[in-house]
Amino acid sequence: MEKEINPDIQGTTLEIESKKNNDKKVLIESYGCAMNFSDSEIVASILSKEGYNTTQALDEADLILINTCSIRDKAEQTVRNRLKAFNSQKKKNKKLKVGVLGCMAERLKQQLLEEEKIVDMVVGPDAYKDIPNLLQEVDAGNNAVNVILSKEETYGDISPVRLSTNGVTAFVSITRGCDNMCTFCVVPFTRGRERSRDPESILNEIAELREKGYKEVTLLGQNVDSYLWYGGGLKKDFKKASELQKATAVDFAMLLDKVATAFPKMRFRFSTSNPQDMHRSVIETMAAHENICNHIHLPVQSGSDRILKAMNRQHSVEEYKKLVDTIFELIPECAISQDIISGFPTETEEDHLDTISLMEYVKYDFGYMYAYSERPGTYAGKNLEDDVPLETKKRRLAEIIEVQQKHSAMRTAQHVGKKQVVLVEGTSKKSENDFMGRNNYNNVVVFPREDYKIGDFILVDITDCTSGTLLGKAIELKN
Ligand code: SAH
Ligand code: F3S
Repeated sequence: MEKEINPDIQGTTLEIESKKNNDKKVLIESYGCAMNFSDSEIVASILSKEGYNTTQALDEADLILINTCSIRDKAEQTVRNRLKAFNSQKKKNKKLKVGVLGCMAERLKQQLLEEEKIVDMVVGPDAYKDIPNLLQEVDAGNNAVNVILSKEETYGDISPVRLSTNGVTAFVSITRGCDNMCTFCVVPFTRGRERSRDPESILNEIAELREKGYKEVTLLGQNVDSYLWYGGGLKKDFKKASELQKATAVDFAMLLDKVATAFPKMRFRFSTSNPQDMHRSVIETMAAHENICNHIHLPVQSGSDRILKAMNRQHSVEEYKKLVDTIFELIPECAISQDIISGFPTETEEDHLDTISLMEYVKYDFGYMYAYSERPGTYAGKNLEDDVPLETKKRRLAEIIEVQQKHSAMRTAQHVGKKQVVLVEGTSKKSENDFMGRNNYNNVVVFPREDYKIGDFILVDITDCTSGTLLGKAIELKN
């Protein structure tokens, strides 16, 4: 998923507990979405068996891997700038090897070796198990490329190496790829067709996390609601499955129910939901389990039917509003967040105002908003002129952000005066004496730490808020 679920993780460097006998060092930097972050943990696990421990220090590294994002032009520019910085390190350490992973590797393939001379290895998102072989090629003095996309690979058999993050919250991927072909989006080209992961391996991974003390899991996919396990294979091939496979298939609502039931002391989130695939059964399952958080990330992209059609989104504004109504009917206080793109080709002022009016209807809790960036190879890139002037895109984006800020402030303030369970993720950035955690709705809550611990569920009296953060006082432990 190329959505920056948590922009804080952009450019994160990974560090894991070291294995004693490993004598080589890899520095892994991840850009873009949570899926990349999660994939980097899989790569760290594969490399750990090859004698590598991770490092955060450039001058210690024998190998640098950069896990890249292609979603907008700017994301790619950021990566190219990082490669320049690595270049000067390579001058100091001639043995240093540099590999590019992720969406840019898949999009540019061999071309990346020609454009960025510093790169030794290019590996697409489905080829990480081949890294040990590719490294041998590199050690033999050759460049190495594997960008083959897979119909089956879900890395279900690899136990990701957890990073020294907070030890409380973790990502677990449940699907890979995307079949939706939104006309602006590069993901179907870089991450391939949609496939789901065996529920057993998902449950096993969560059990491992629980043993290590993790308390919250976010189930990840480009389109989690379209999760479907029928024994493996592409989502689009389900029609051809046997009667038995169809009868025993597990959909997303069933998966959610399984994890929430199996791990009652853990809390679950999921991302991302595609409106046309989010069925009532998922919302009912959320409502039925206290340990499934009441937050739905529900990208809409535009509030104009004409633009939604041009984007090849599979729903109308009316259908989206109905879905939002159903969410509020079943979970009245559910938090909903959005992704919106301003300035898609042919977008008029009227289309833009339709987007604002949809925002006024939903009153989203959070949002991730972007100016349209033409991506080579996509349908829109090939067939639609990028005809909204940059100035107009930027102005519309600023207006959208302003409306979102108003709604975020309003929705945040609605929690003041309530008592809410907060999972402590760490100390507050501003004060060592305060903890920060999240409530059920994904709001950040800050409160005096007293004698509580990181990883505790605490009932907090929410007494005040700033524009984006709730402030409170701990009442009691709720583990
Ligand atoms: N289903 C995915 C969406 C991935 S892309 C998920 O799991 O989150 C994340 C967001 O980036 C999209 O929802 C869209 O709002 C934005 N985006 C994608 N392509 C874009 C483009 N060409 N220009 C601007 N924004 C884009
Ligand atoms: Fe991209 Fe649309 Fe899939 S935004 S990831 S093609 S749902």
